[in-house]
Amino acid sequence: MKNELEKIHSEAMEAADSCDSIKALDELRVKYLGKKGGLTAILKQMGKLSAEERPVIGQLANKIRADIEEAVSKKMTLLKAKEQEIKLAKETIDITLPGKPQSLGKLHPLTIVSNEIKEIFMGMGFDIADGPEVEYDYYNFEALNLPPDHPARDTQDTFYITDNILLRTQTSSVQVHVMENKKPPIRIISPGRVYRSDAVDATHSPLFHQVEGLVVDKGITMADLKGTLEMLMKKLYGDDCKIRLRPHHFPFTEPSAEVDVMCFNCHGEGCRICKGEGYIELLGAGMVHPKVLEGCGIDSSVYSGFAFGMGLERIVMRRYNISDMRLLFENDLRFLEQF
Ligand code: DAH
Repeated sequence: MKNELEKIHSEAMEAADSCDSIKALDELRVKYLGKKGGLTAILKQMGKLSAEERPVIGQLANKIRADIEEAVSKKMTLLKAKEQEIKLAKETIDITLPGKPQSLGKLHPLTIVSNEIKEIFMGMGFDIADGPEVEYDYYNFEALNLPPDHPARDTQDTFYITDNILLRTQTSSVQVHVMENKKPPIRIISPGRVYRSDAVDATHSPLFHQVEGLVVDKGITMADLKGTLEMLMKKLYGDDCKIRLRPHHFPFTEPSAEVDVMCFNCHGEGCRICKGEGYIELLGAGMVHPKVLEGCGIDSSVYSGFAFGMGLERIVMRRYNISDMRLLFENDLRFLEQF
């Protein structure tokens, strides 16, 4: 029996040593150490041994079992490490391959120019004011000296929600909110969306943007208005940019003016773009009408002010030489990626 055990021992040790796969090693373990394995088979015959032989053989068998177990376990560790190595080698990533490009969003040209205008005015000490887009008729028209039957209302086809609630047609409504809530000195601009019942074409959209401006203080004159707007245009279009004021009529200013800016294309010479004028109409402005000041509780014998309102789309289109306003609203990436 001793010989048999030693034979199993050396056979198993050799087999474990030369084994080269995890699966084969597992089979080998079952073959020698399993319930139906060689070692167990021999131990089952221990009953036949004499009382003196039994402990000697028992001890030897246990030592052999421990030996084989250790050899199998060592080999298993080795094979597993090898297998892992092969797996890792197979799974290496080619870091030289180009990655998937992640496209970054950009600011819309309307936002770019609006931010720029805000910066310019903040540099001149203005605050940014905000007002509702769904507005009372009172703020959009009446408080701006446009009573219910005023003919100038017809120039702004309006989206009415009820008889006295509408989508604001102009950011001038914010002037009233500001003057109701703040004592002079007031220096604000208010960029925002406005709505008019216009059909869409190259120069019209039912939704567009305006930037309103309002300054109220003691001793404000038309010279302050002109100086402020000239500064804005020089910053937007370059230092050689000039503006000119033409008499006009707005119900909420007196006197009122339309402000033209020197043509960016011909610099005042007259060309196709400015239709020979040398100047392009850009915004409306004027001295705040005393009636508007008084309606907001501001004493017009003490305070005066100027106001202006400009279409942001028009400024953006001039700035980037965009010929069709629809491009600004279609969200075509081929267009938007250019800014
Ligand atoms: N609200 C006018 C418009 O939409 C523009 C405007 C003109 C605003 C004169 C003003 C202003 O503040 O003083 O056509």
